[in-house]
Amino acid sequence: QKPKITVVGSINMDLVTIASPLPNIGETVFGDQFQMNPGGKGANQAVASARLGAHVQLIGCVGNDRFGKDILEHLQKEGVDVSNVEPVTEVTATATIIVSNQDNSIIVVPAANNHVTAAFVESKRDVIAGSDILILQLEIPLEGVIKAAEIAKENGVTVILNPAPIQELSSELVKNIDYLTPNEHEQLLLKKDRRSEELDGKLIVTKGSQGVSILEGNQETTIPAYTIDVVDTTGAGDAFNGGLALALCRGFNLREACKYGNAVAALSTTKLGAQTGMPTREEVEEFMRSQF
Ligand code: RIB
Ligand code: NA
Repeated sequence: QKPKITVVGSINMDLVTIASPLPNIGETVFGDQFQMNPGGKGANQAVASARLGAHVQLIGCVGNDRFGKDILEHLQKEGVDVSNVEPVTEVTATATIIVSNQDNSIIVVPAANNHVTAAFVESKRDVIAGSDILILQLEIPLEGVIKAAEIAKENGVTVILNPAPIQELSSELVKNIDYLTPNEHEQLLLKKDRRSEELDGKLIVTKGSQGVSILEGNQETTIPAYTIDVVDTTGAGDAFNGGLALALCRGFNLREACKYGNAVAALSTTKLGAQTGMPTREEVEEFMRSQF
């Protein structure tokens, strides 16, 4: 039977412009390329898990517009169950992404994602309760995230929270999370003003080309990243989270699951766009075999 993964989260249209060098404020430059790609951390994690062989339910909102329609069609083609993605009157969320040879900058306009409220999530209680793992991020209202984690905990569902973009989290929310997957920058803010016991055994810090660190007590276990020719790192974190969830569903221990997530993340960076490079289960297994 396929692992059942539910993702409550954002669904964005990524408007990607590739340009180097970047313009200064007030300046106009010519760019190299423009693309529109389905994105959003929630949708990216859903596609990652689906390509790896999970039965994925995505809970979220899109606009009743052209972007929303295109995205739903695309998610269906990817095998993601979108029966709990609802169209709302606001426009579909966008992420304006500038890719330069230094780094990416992203501006997200949440729009329809703002409708993923606690009440909306409550109306999807049964879907969350029936899953093996719930994956969350922070591109929807915090109250929606809190509600989803609460429902999951009440029903013994494992919860992964990718705390991006980072914001202040209550102790009540953290209590309901099994694994937190910040990057290094997000980890610093997460730790600020917080007792370390609260996070103990939950932290998996993603460090890009440095791999990931599992933090338990005073112990830090580093699972190295795979080396690969990178085209676009957008969505690599989402790929990791999808891979981690899938591997945990299949019964891998945490280290093995992180290693699997690293392989998914590495492969995802070989293609332009957040979702295009998400690998299939076969591709991941083949890649991991070829590395050793
Ligand atoms: O994590 C990558 C995603 O972040 C992009 O797809 C973009 O939509 C932003 O939300
Ligand atoms: Na990519």
